[in-house]
Amino acid sequence: MNRRTILKTGLALFPVQALLARAQAFFPEPPLRPVKRREGVVEARLEAVAKPIQVGGKTAELWTYGGSLPGPTLRLKEGERLRLVFRNRLGEVTNLHFHGLPIPPLVDNPFLEIPPGEEQVYEFTVPRGAAGTYWYHPHVHGKVANQLFRGLAGTIVVEGPLDALPELRAAEEHLIVLKDLELLGGKVAPHTPMDWMNGKEGSLVLANGALRPTLRPGKGLLRLRLLNASNARFYRLALEGHTLVQIATDGGFLAKPVELEELLLAPGERAEVLVALKGAGEYRLLALPYDRGAIGMMDMGGMRHMMGTGPSRTEHLLTITVPKAFPKLPLPKTLAGLKPLSPSGPLRRLVLSENMMAGEFFINGRKFDHTRVDLRAQRGQVEVWEVENQGDMDHPFHLHTHPFQVLARNGRPEPFPAWKDTVNIRAGEVVRLAVAVGFPGKTVFHCHIVEHEDQGMMGVLEVQ
Ligand code: C2O
Ligand code: CU
Ligand code: CU
Repeated sequence: MNRRTILKTGLALFPVQALLARAQAFFPEPPLRPVKRREGVVEARLEAVAKPIQVGGKTAELWTYGGSLPGPTLRLKEGERLRLVFRNRLGEVTNLHFHGLPIPPLVDNPFLEIPPGEEQVYEFTVPRGAAGTYWYHPHVHGKVANQLFRGLAGTIVVEGPLDALPELRAAEEHLIVLKDLELLGGKVAPHTPMDWMNGKEGSLVLANGALRPTLRPGKGLLRLRLLNASNARFYRLALEGHTLVQIATDGGFLAKPVELEELLLAPGERAEVLVALKGAGEYRLLALPYDRGAIGMMDMGGMRHMMGTGPSRTEHLLTITVPKAFPKLPLPKTLAGLKPLSPSGPLRRLVLSENMMAGEFFINGRKFDHTRVDLRAQRGQVEVWEVENQGDMDHPFHLHTHPFQVLARNGRPEPFPAWKDTVNIRAGEVVRLAVAVGFPGKTVFHCHIVEHEDQGMMGVLEVQ
């Protein structure tokens, strides 16, 4: 049932008061796809289409997948074959990228352009061991920032054997897609020159397309799948009165749960957390202030100066309203049999840099060129990538197709192994990654502040 059918049937059955209470209690979850599933093959259709959508009490024309914000969730199982028929009903070229899924670049092809009105079939097998939370979004170079900001993003949930753990099955699962938006005259606000430097943020900070929705759990243990689908906004997440027990990163389960006071999600990153609810009460999920080194213009004595904007303000993302104390549910003790990667391949050095005044962004001093190959690698090797941020702001570094583990940040070893595809690199920081080189073909690595990607902070990796 979607929101509309609930409201319609609700209307016939309940007086207005009850209806309002119900509508308020409604925590929007993106619609589910696929509908058809036969002998390990799942079929789904998806279209990119402009649609008027209600956000924060206003109606605006967004660009959507299937008419919803966020787009429908593709819920798949490891080993299943997906056949996705995608139609471009936008007025410009687009394509689909399956962010984080280790699938062949021939299928998940960031160089493909689908003209308006055309269809493209995406077909692949969901890899074993990939259970986790992923997402899809457009990836045509130069158009990503605009298309993503206007609303084009959806989640991919992959289920695997670990999801059958009794502790996880007992939990109440919700997906939370974090995405900000700025509206102007019934449309999505266009990018300003400043947005092209910093990456665009919007003042409407939405959870599943809704402004500060309320979640009313029916159980004492929540499993939250979190996705940062924003262009440039960082979320330093904290839940009032609770700790977050992280069980998964971008690429799936950790070896064992890790208890956190707060969790930083950079653009493109995902995490899964368990929340053991404390009893009756209202608890806000907050994004705490975070300074990502964004730049603003200041007028000083008639001269324009570029200065850091300082930390973001606290945002209230949603409220968890717990009606009563639920019976306590146990947390899992161990999760995946996850081993640290041991490098066998060459060491690479990548340097991220900016020319803020010119609005230009580089990797190893060069801007993206789709005809150039920046790195060549061998399938099956584990390479060490040392990525240094010589710029003045955070750059979340992302690699397609080939999952990695963070070895160290500024020489400090990472406390535990975790599968990642996006890692935030702070200004001046050097991060060491162990990259498990997989499927052959050409793909890309880039900053996931998508304005930076669109303006050149991207490179090509070719695997033989
Ligand atoms: Cu989510 Cu190349 O990106
Ligand atoms: Cu990606
Ligand atoms: Cu960047």
